[in-house]
Amino acid sequence: MELSDAIKSRTSIRSFTDEKINLEDIKNIINLAGYAPSVNNYQPWKYIVITNHELMQNMAGLVIKKITQIPLKKSIAAENLRSQVTWYSTFFKDAPAIIALAIIPDETVLEKAVQLSHEEINKIRNYPDIQSAGASIQNLLLAATEKGYGTCWLSGPMFAKTEIETMLNITAPWSLLTFVAIGKAKNIPKLKEKLNLADSIEIFD
Ligand SMILES: Cc1cc2nc3c(=O)[nH]c(=O)nc-3n(C[C@H](O)[C@H](O)[C@H](O)COP(=O)(O)O)c2cc1C
Repeated sequence: MELSDAIKSRTSIRSFTDEKINLEDIKNIINLAGYAPSVNNYQPWKYIVITNHELMQNMAGLVIKKITQIPLKKSIAAENLRSQVTWYSTFFKDAPAIIALAIIPDETVLEKAVQLSHEEINKIRNYPDIQSAGASIQNLLLAATEKGYGTCWLSGPMFAKTEIETMLNITAPWSLLTFVAIGKAKNIPKLKEKLNLADSIEIFD
């Protein structure tokens, strides 16, 4: 598959067949995720694969609990919106696998030299650790697409970040960043419309 075809055909998949994922494929996909650029080539990431459905159910249960605890705004649509978000944050429980990404704070070159904390530098530079992780995840999504897998990137489960970290033995200085659900797509939805960025490029020549 051409890279441009993988880029254009990737779409978020939220319903999967029961087909188990091939662990060798997953290892290969995660390995390709590691070729992404990262700040100072620090590679601040670690991938965790979960195929245990009891664990996935338990994680989803915690996410539901956390979202339910958030007080609602006074609006007639509020309960409905919250249940939509709950579904989009928990459908991962029915995926053949979840790939979780944990990150570790990078030690910046500058913090060895100037009187700014790691957090201050990280904020000024717009969180290069998270930017790096985003590049890695996009590699992962594209590699999975090329291998015929469907994926969906999920930040919704992070409502129960602390609890899930405990379940996955993620301890400081590592922290859980996000989930990707992966499996064979049950059906491929119509591709989402994307902006034609070429039409809106600002060029300072
Ligand atoms: C950082 C990030 C977080 C996301 N979190 C969720 C999520 O929690 N649940 C979900 O169903 N989709 C999630 N998505 C998928 C987006 O909804 C999806 O990418 C978007 O609607 C565009 O559709 P496409 O991926 O098919 O192009 C997330 C995507 C990104 C990049």
